[in-house]
Amino acid sequence: MPGAADISSSPAAGGHGQTVCVTGAGGFIASWIVKLLLARGYTVRGTVRNPEDPKNDHLRELEGAKERLTLWEADLLDFHSLRAAIAGCHGVFHAACPITDDPEQMLRPAVDGTKNVIMAASEAKVRRVVFTSSVGAVYMDPNRSHDVVMDESYWSDLEYCKDTKVLNWYCYGKTVAEQTAWKLAKELGVDLVVVNPVVVLGPLLQSSVNASSVHILKYLAGWVNTYANAVQGYVHVRDVAQAHVLVFEAQPASGRYLCVDSVIHRGEVVEILGELFPEYPLPTKCSDEKKPIAKPHKFNCQKVKELGLEFTPVKQCLYETVKSLQEKGHLATLPKRH
Ligand SMILES: NC(=O)c1ccc[n+]([C@@H]2O[C@H](COP(=O)([O-])OP(=O)(O)OC[C@H]3O[C@@H](n4cnc5c(N)ncnc54)[C@H](OP(=O)(O)O)[C@@H]3O)[C@@H](O)[C@H]2O)c1
Repeated sequence: MPGAADISSSPAAGGHGQTVCVTGAGGFIASWIVKLLLARGYTVRGTVRNPEDPKNDHLRELEGAKERLTLWEADLLDFHSLRAAIAGCHGVFHAACPITDDPEQMLRPAVDGTKNVIMAASEAKVRRVVFTSSVGAVYMDPNRSHDVVMDESYWSDLEYCKDTKVLNWYCYGKTVAEQTAWKLAKELGVDLVVVNPVVVLGPLLQSSVNASSVHILKYLAGWVNTYANAVQGYVHVRDVAQAHVLVFEAQPASGRYLCVDSVIHRGEVVEILGELFPEYPLPTKCSDEKKPIAKPHKFNCQKVKELGLEFTPVKQCLYETVKSLQEKGHLATLPKRH
């Protein structure tokens, strides 16, 4: 499959002379946000927990990094470290968050960490904060019919997330974090815009495998024999990074922005992977064939499209994810079957 257009080659605009902070800069999505911001001329301060950790080396290799990227040591639970990184910035992209369903690890960094970022941004009088929330703060509600087309006005049901805790502490944490962000931003007069992506896939810039890439890796690496009777939304990481920058740069942007290309059943995911990469031992059976097949949720992403975002099709996204996992050495390249 041909490669999708590289957004880093899109015309630089707006960023010259502006300094912005990206939290959790070494992560999967944040690395792409940093790459795009550098390409658009911004000076970027990336916060990481350990600037010396080789896992952040890829950031220093990005185009423009030598001249305009600095790494700042900051933990979400340490307000002073965030305050130092954000002071003097024109904007903040708050992407750092643990991705886990362990409430002990998830809730404080997600919620108190977001509070700390908004407070530091308020002190620094930044023009805008862009917060990476999740569709997990939007669609988790068992009483909502699958026929409902969800837009930015929908919220997950916190009680449901709590009751199904093992699966949904992550969604609970993201929902509470986003609600906290909106409340505090209003109180402090901070201009906040939120991006709510579904599962994000695509090429990795960092050397380690992040949680959403494992979602695909597990099928190809033979870690599972079956696929779940479940549906999932997917979006390309470049599109998500672009959405962040678009909502930052577009003066009238406000509120939440859903980012979803397609919502498909796991069976379709393995089918597409099988068409593109037939050499891998992909599961062919659903783990639960007794229950009716899970129906996809419906989302309306018109709002972000109106800012000019065009979504990369899911097939391209899956193709680039697998190629990247191979190139980074996370997945063995097998001889093609004919
Ligand atoms: N990937 C998806 O499918 C997806 C979908 C929707 C929303 N999101 C949201 O997008 C954001 C980025 O996700 P990602 O997929 O890029 O995850 P990732 O690769 O795991 O990156 C998460 C980042 O958060 C940082 N972090 C975690 N706890 C921290 C703490 N206490 N203090 C400072 N930094 C901390 C991590 O830093 P270390 O490297 O130091 O651990 C890491 O850089 C998250 O807010 C996530 O909820 C992701």
